[in-house]
Order: sequence, then structure tokens, then C-alpha cells
Amino acid sequence: MASGETKLIGQAINRIDGLLKVTGAANYSVDFPIKNPAYGFIVKSTIASGTIADIDTAQAEKSPGVIAVISYKNAPKLAPSGNLKGGVIFQEPKVDFYGQNIALVVAETYEQARSAARVVKVKYQKSEAMVDFDKNMDKATTPNRNRGSSRGDFDAAFNSAEHKIDFTYQTPIEHHNPMEPHAAIAEWDGDKLTLYNASQGVDGTQNATATAFGLKPENVRIVSPHIGGGFGSKGSTWPNVILAAMAAKVVGRPVKLALTRQNMFNSVGLRQRDVQRMRLATDAAGNLTAIAHETTTHTATTGEFVEGCGGLSAMMYDAPNAKIGYRVLPMNVIVPTFMRAPGESTGSFALESAIDEMAYELKMDPIEFRLKNISMKDPSNNKPFSSRATEAALKKGAEMFGWNRRKQEPRQNRNGDYLIGYGVSAGSYPARQSGTSAQVKLTRSRDNDVTASIELAASDLGTGTYTIVAQTAAETLGLPINKVGVKIGDSTLPRAAGSGGSVGAASYCNAVSEGCAQAMTELQAKTNRQWFAAPSIAQLMEAANLTEYQTRVDAKPQAEAREYSCHAFNANFAEVWVNASTGMVRVARNVAVTGAGRIMNTKTARSQIIGGTVWGIGMALTEESVLDPRWGNFVTRSFADYHIPANLDIGDIDVAFIPEEDHIVNKLGIKGIGEVGIVGVAAAVANAVFNATGKRVRDLPITPDKLL
Ligand code: MOS
Repeated sequence: MASGETKLIGQAINRIDGLLKVTGAANYSVDFPIKNPAYGFIVKSTIASGTIADIDTAQAEKSPGVIAVISYKNAPKLAPSGNLKGGVIFQEPKVDFYGQNIALVVAETYEQARSAARVVKVKYQKSEAMVDFDKNMDKATTPNRNRGSSRGDFDAAFNSAEHKIDFTYQTPIEHHNPMEPHAAIAEWDGDKLTLYNASQGVDGTQNATATAFGLKPENVRIVSPHIGGGFGSKGSTWPNVILAAMAAKVVGRPVKLALTRQNMFNSVGLRQRDVQRMRLATDAAGNLTAIAHETTTHTATTGEFVEGCGGLSAMMYDAPNAKIGYRVLPMNVIVPTFMRAPGESTGSFALESAIDEMAYELKMDPIEFRLKNISMKDPSNNKPFSSRATEAALKKGAEMFGWNRRKQEPRQNRNGDYLIGYGVSAGSYPARQSGTSAQVKLTRSRDNDVTASIELAASDLGTGTYTIVAQTAAETLGLPINKVGVKIGDSTLPRAAGSGGSVGAASYCNAVSEGCAQAMTELQAKTNRQWFAAPSIAQLMEAANLTEYQTRVDAKPQAEAREYSCHAFNANFAEVWVNASTGMVRVARNVAVTGAGRIMNTKTARSQIIGGTVWGIGMALTEESVLDPRWGNFVTRSFADYHIPANLDIGDIDVAFIPEEDHIVNKLGIKGIGEVGIVGVAAAVANAVFNATGKRVRDLPITPDKLL
């Protein structure tokens, strides 16, 4: 096939790694066959703040199969900056939160380690813990890294406005629960360490681990070819990774350390609780004149993390006066971290609920109100949007959803015991590209068959990275997709962006496209021939008399993108059925319309949006991590009490994309879809609940008790 003949980008191609996965041949971190591994099990603190007065490991050490019990008493020293996210790692007897790792039992089998962990006896000196957010919210102060901003004069505009609302919205702590809990195998060879570790960014894990153990980064190898989801929690290096490496060093053999599902609720960060005060004002005609979005949240005593809840409020609507602010309270909990659309998912619940409330106040259709108040310029920085699909998404979604059947007044649509309501929201997520290198290796066989190997240290969280990289390479090289192999998830490969912040697709595919095009150009130069018709890669290699060729590219974001505000935009619609007697909410239908630039693979992209929608429904209706204010522990620590939507909780989900050709964001025009799918979903559901029942729930999740 000649170059350019194959159109693979954008096709709904099945995952090229699908067969490996469904046959069980894909190795996830602890699946790697490793000789003679020992197994670790973590002992966790049962106080939220204080000091370990003594830790008695004698009985555990004598337990069957136990090889070592490691704690602050005997742990190897780590570099000071090796105290990574998630508290001190056995370097001192200090306890900063309930569930902190305080000892690790290493044994011949997992069961022996787990059993011995139960007989490690700990005496504590407790000190007063800050664990009750609601009681202490007023003690929150301005964050060190303050992302607040303002334009115009909010107070003057708000005070003199024709119409205004002032409401506070609350979202609870949530926990990441990827299918694959965090896990690692650590293996040392002298001062070289290999970690088989599920990692959203192999480069970040390599550096963090190297720092902790005082190693050169190249002496740490991260192997992470398949990842069972991460959602942000695998975007940082948490103590479990360091503990696996520490244990392997102590016992002198490889160690497997896998977290239990219960461990997931105090080991790898969380989505923080946010209390968001929204004030909106309009003139008599419904033009927004002022927006204030003030977030109060908490962080950990060990470090500051504040998700940017107000980010969308600064840029979505064209109000001349705006004020975005944050206050944060340090608490004795594990440090919060990125969770799918950190800031935008929770912030959009507040903003898009408030927009709905304002529209209702104005007796205006909420779509009309939104359309009236958007512009093609980002009011937060005065840059034009590179492209913006809000209007197209709202209009297309309205048509797909049947928005014209919605009643403006609540409680007007009833079917037997059920109150039916329609809700809408708009959303956005930044489109970014990060520097990424890639290697293209070409091989020509005797019968002139060319195969390509594309290599870069990218991550595939289960999102489809392998497949879109193969599509990009195959199309650029003019090869069938089955002639392209993809190697990712290994720190020995060229350095690539992490799979986080929705930068993966744009960063990887632009680098791979550039690398493949470069290979063609370089080969053409080597042939010393004038080509009148575009030659195939096989013709080029043959003419250059080459059976092997390789090239490498270091791709960077294009400068032009900085002159624009680059975002993906979406619109979400939800139809809810609320049982009038029990208050149970069922989301019967969702429509999600997204403008995310070029869609690389309509099948994997659709799956991403469905995943975001499902999580948004969980956020709206069921997900809540409950902290016991007496002890500081989470009482929700399994799927029995932390409910993530299952099939029966989900109705019809209809997904559509707005076609966009945006070559400002990056050469291929990719905006990313990992995060935007969840943005606005919870607000669409909450707005539908109001439309159904007349009851405005400003405190997620919308459980039946709040509707009765
Ligand atoms: Mo995303 S929260 O950066 O995995």
C-alpha cells in the first residue's frame, strides 16, 4: 500500500492488545513471572495522629513463613526527599493519618504475610487529630499555592445586580478504585532495581524511586506495559512502591506487594471534600455580570493539594466580573491527589448547578441561558479559544435527547410512582500536549514486507493507547495496522509524557506521527532519487538498500498553542426517574456530546466517554467516603459500602462527538478525552432531579434521604 492510502486514524479499530487481555496473556504488575518471590503485607496505623511508642514484632517474626518484619526500627534510610506522597515511610515513629503504613511483613506466601501482620503489636502515644472537617472548616486558610484569580469588581457588580443567587454546593471525599489495586514487584540486581509497577507515568516513578534510594535514575527500571485503570491515583509514586523496593532489598530477593481493596481507601490519595460557595448575578436580560466561586477544602498535614474547583468558573462564561478563591484546612488524612478531572468534575457540579438555578430564577431555558453567556474568547486570559464546541454540543445533544419535551417547571412529568426530570450541563477540560520522544524501527524482509516497531515510554491505562499509537504509525507509514508493533510502559524506552491530565493521546500520537514522517523523509533522502509518485515505505527501503532502519524524534508542543486557550468542551443531558415514595433516583438516559478535536478511534473514545458518564452517575448518586470524626478512619472501605455504579444502575448512554479540525492545539488536532467525559455529568443529574422533584440537592451524593 502506498503511503496515504490507508485511513486508519479515526476508525473504530478494536484494541490491538484486546486478545492478550481476554486470554489472560497480558501481564499486569504482579502477574509477571518472577523466580522465588517473597510476599509483603502492610500493617497500618489505627490512630490518626501521634507517635508509635513501641512496635512489638516478636510474634510476627516467629510466625510460619515470615522472613522479615520491617518498621521504623529497622528500615533502611531513605533520602529525605524520599518521603514521597502519602507520609513518612518507616523513617520515624510518627503517625499522620489513620491507615498510614507502619510496618511491612514479608513472608514466603501472601497468606503467611497477611496472617503475621495481624499479630504485630503497636503501642501509640496519641495526640489530638484534626479529622472533623465540618466542625473546623472556618479554620481553613489561603493555600500556599493559591490559584485564585479575579477580574473586574465582583462585589460592586454582584451588589448592584438585577438577579442574583448565592448557594453553597458540597461534594464528599471519594476514592479511586481502579479494577487493579496498586501493586508492584521489586527486584534488585546489585544497585540496580527493577519495578514491575502499574504506573501512569513511568518516568515519574523512575525518578521518585531513584531519589528515595539515592540511585541514578537509569539504575531504576520501571516495567508497566498494562495497567488496570488509575484515574490519577497511579500518577504519583505512593509508599507501596517504595516499600516493595525496600523489602526486596532487606530480604535479598524479589518481593511482590499488592494492595487489598480495603487498602485502597487509605494508601494512594483521595479526592478531597469541597465546599463551594457560588454567587452568580445577571442583568435584567439574563447576561451574566458576576461570578464568584469560593472553595473551602482540606489537605493533609503532610502536604498541600488543592484541586482547582474554580477553573471552569473562570473561563466558561463571559461575565466581566469574577472572583475565584480557595481556602484549605490541613487534616490528618492521606494527602489528596488528582482524580479524574481534578477540580473540573467537582467544580462543574457547583458551577453547572448554579447556572441551572440562575436560569430557573430568570425563567429561562437553561440551554438558552448558557448560549447567551458564552463567547469564543476565554474571559480569564482574553485569549481566543482555539475551537469551542459548547454551542454545537448543546444543540446536538438537545436534539438527540429530545430536550424539547422538557417542562420548565418541576414536577410536571409523572409516570405512576415516578417523577421524571430532564437536566443539562456544559463542561470543559484543558487540551494540552507534553514533550514526548519516540523511536521508529523499520524492518524489511526478503519479500519486501515492511514491519514497524514503535517504541516510547507511554502508559496505557486501559484507555487504548496501544491502538491509537498503532493507527497513527500505520497511517503515516502506509502500512496495514497488523504490521505495526507497539512497545510502551518501560522506562528503558524513549521518555514520554505520563498518561494523565488528558495529555496522553496528543503527546504520544503527535510524536509518533512526527517520527514516522521523519523516517519517510530520511529514507527518501537516502535513495538519492527523484520520486514522481509517492513511494511506499518498502520501495524506499529497497531503493536505499536497507533491511533495517531506525529514527528517533523528540516532539514538543507547538508554540502557536500558547497564544490560544485550548480546551475540549462537552454537554451532558440526563433523564432521571425519582420514586416519589422512596426517593430512589434512577438515571434512565444520558446523552454526552463532546468536542475533543480529532477523535483517534471512535470505539475507544466512546468507551472513555461512557466510563466518564458512569463515574459521573456514581458521583451524583452513590459515591461517598465516610470519615469517622472520632477516629479519622474511613468506615466505607469496600464496594459493599462505597457503591460504584454497576450495570443495573445505568440506563442508556448515548455518545456523540462534534467533528473538529483544530490544528492550533497540536498538529494532529487531538484534545484528549480521558477527563472531560466526567465533567458536568453530576450536575446534569442533579439538575434533572430538581426538574423531576422541585428539590434542589446541593450536597452530593443525592441519596434518597435528601429527597424525602
Ligand atoms: Mo488524570 S486525574 O490526570 O489520571
